[in-house]
Amino acid sequence: MALTAKQQLFLALALAFPFFQVAICGDPDITSDFLVPAGTNATQLDGQFFTYTGMRPLITSDPPTTFTATKATMAEFPALNGQSVSYAVLQYPAGSVNPPHTHPRAAELLFLTYGTLEVGFVDTTNKLFTQRLQAGDMFVFPKGLVHYQFNYNEKDFAIAISAFGSAAAGTVSVPSAVFTTGIDDEILAKSFKTDDATIQKLKAGLAPNA
Ligand SMILES: *[C@@H]1O[C@H](CO)[C@@H](O)[C@H](O)[C@H]1NC(C)=O
Repeated sequence: MALTAKQQLFLALALAFPFFQVAICGDPDITSDFLVPAGTNATQLDGQFFTYTGMRPLITSDPPTTFTATKATMAEFPALNGQSVSYAVLQYPAGSVNPPHTHPRAAELLFLTYGTLEVGFVDTTNKLFTQRLQAGDMFVFPKGLVHYQFNYNEKDFAIAISAFGSAAAGTVSVPSAVFTTGIDDEILAKSFKTDDATIQKLKAGLAPNA
């Protein structure tokens, strides 16, 4: 029996539905005020559970000598689970870079609190958007797009605070993902239209002990 046009459309929608669900790439909405970790007695929760003190050392310690991202995601701060928010404090020594990377599950709203930064992201048409920020400026990196920050001041450090629209935004570093995960030299040489020696040099420079 042949299906009518309406039946065909319905069947197509029914088959596609699971894929639409997969394509919604963000934190799920929860149906309670907050999520209590497994094994925790909910009646014993208090304000402590909703407090994160892991950033306190940043206030008192000297600035780091390499680019450092200190995160407060649901991994460090379990009360964020289900709340679709997280933070990272980003410290940039003079002249340092946060290499190109993406956050697959969230946009990033960066607030530069000290110093200067050159920021940039590339959209899905390969258009580059860049800006030089001064302290007090904000910049938004759209969800999932490749982006970077560079402290172009060779004499002074910079500090930024980034908010994410996910409790677990995830980070994919472009250099690490491509050159430190064991992808075959020949595949990379063909992909980057270069030779094996160049790929090996890039891999060596990114090796953990380099
Ligand atoms: C949870 O804590 C409350 C208050 O301390 C206590 O009365 C209750 O028995 C506890 N429940 C469980 C399952 O341990």
